[in-house]
Parts: sequence; C-alpha cells; structure tokens
Amino acid sequence: MGSKKVNLKIRVLILLFGCVNLSGFNSSGKINILRENLEDLRGQFKRQSIEQSEKQLSGRAVYEKYCLTCHQSNGSGVPGMHPPLGPGSWVGKEPKDLIKILMEGLSGKIEVNDEVYKDNMPSQSKLTDDEIVEVLTYIRSNFGNNYKSVTPEMVKSVRANHLK
Ligand code: HEC
Repeated sequence: MGSKKVNLKIRVLILLFGCVNLSGFNSSGKINILRENLEDLRGQFKRQSIEQSEKQLSGRAVYEKYCLTCHQSNGSGVPGMHPPLGPGSWVGKEPKDLIKILMEGLSGKIEVNDEVYKDNMPSQSKLTDDEIVEVLTYIRSNFGNNYKSVTPEMVKSVRANHLK
C-alpha cells in the first residue's frame, strides 16, 4: 500500500467526518428551534385551555350557587314548577331577554316544551355583570345547548336601559 493511497483515505475520512459533523450540528440547531416553537405553542395552548376552563368553572360556580336549587344541576328543572334550561327552553332566546330575566326575575304563566309554569322566578339582582356573563354563557353551552356566548357589552347595554 503506497503512502499516497493512505493519505487519500485519511483525507476522504476527514472530509466525510466534517460533513457529518456540520450537518449534525445544523440539524440539531434546527431541531432545537423546532422544539422551542413546539414548547411555545404548547404553553399557549395550555394557557388558553386553562383560561377557558376557569371561565367554564366560574360560570358553573355561579349556576350552582344561584340557579341549581330550582333548575337542577343538569338544567332539567322540575316539571310544573321550575322550567328546564335545555333545548326548547328560553335559553336560546336573545341574550338581552335572558339578561333581563336575571335582572328582573320572571312571573306569569309561561310554556316551555309544552309544559306550563307559573311560579315566580326571583330577580337575581345580586349577580354582578361578570357573573351574568358567565352564568348565561354557561347555560348556553351546556345542558345540550350550543348558543353563542353572552358578552359584557350585552350586559352593559341592558343595564344602561334597565336603569332608565
Ligand atoms: C327560586 C327558583 C329559581 C331560581 C333560584 C332561578 N330560577 Fe329561573 N326560573 C324559575 C321559574 C319558576 C321560572 C318560570 C317563571 C314563570 O313561570 O314566569 C324560571 C324561568 C327561567 C328562565 C326562562 C324559562 C326557561 O326555562 O328557559 C331562564 C332562562 C331561567 N329561569 C334562568 C335562571 C338562571 C340562569 C338562574 C340563576 C342565576 C335562575 N333561573 C334562578 C325559578 C328559578
């Protein structure tokens, strides 16, 4: 074996090693950036879902505190006494009508899903605007309902007209 050949082999080896090293460095750099992006996305997603579930939780908490005794935990109500809040109920009405019901209460004969109700619903005037937003958004997205959220602006506008 001539020493030239050995030299060439070594050179080729060095070249190959260099390439592998370089590309290895490159891709691990890229992988790191990808990993950071992924962590970032994961963090954002986590934050969003925590915020979402906190909102859900507080809507549910308001419901459990102020509505559950009459309308029941699953929104079924009590036939002939307290109307249900699921599909076919008034929960799909205009948000402003629902906001008014909470602020003023409701009396007189009403019909929900062919059942007559004539008990009084006491005004829920102790609820803050935020609690109204949350509890109405909660009942509009639970019990089989899938209606749009109620916004703070909607409550503010009813409150403004309500006080006149
Ligand atoms: C003391 C019992 C009682 C409580 C507490 C109560 N309600 Fe009611 N609710 C009623 C009754 C009774 C009616 C029907 C009133 C009527 O016949 O005029 C009613 C009617 C309603 C209606 C319209 C009819 C329907 O079923 O769609 C909605 C919406 C409603 N309540 C939501 C709520 C929410 C939200 C809360 C809690 C913030 C609440 N209610 C608290 C007894 C209650």
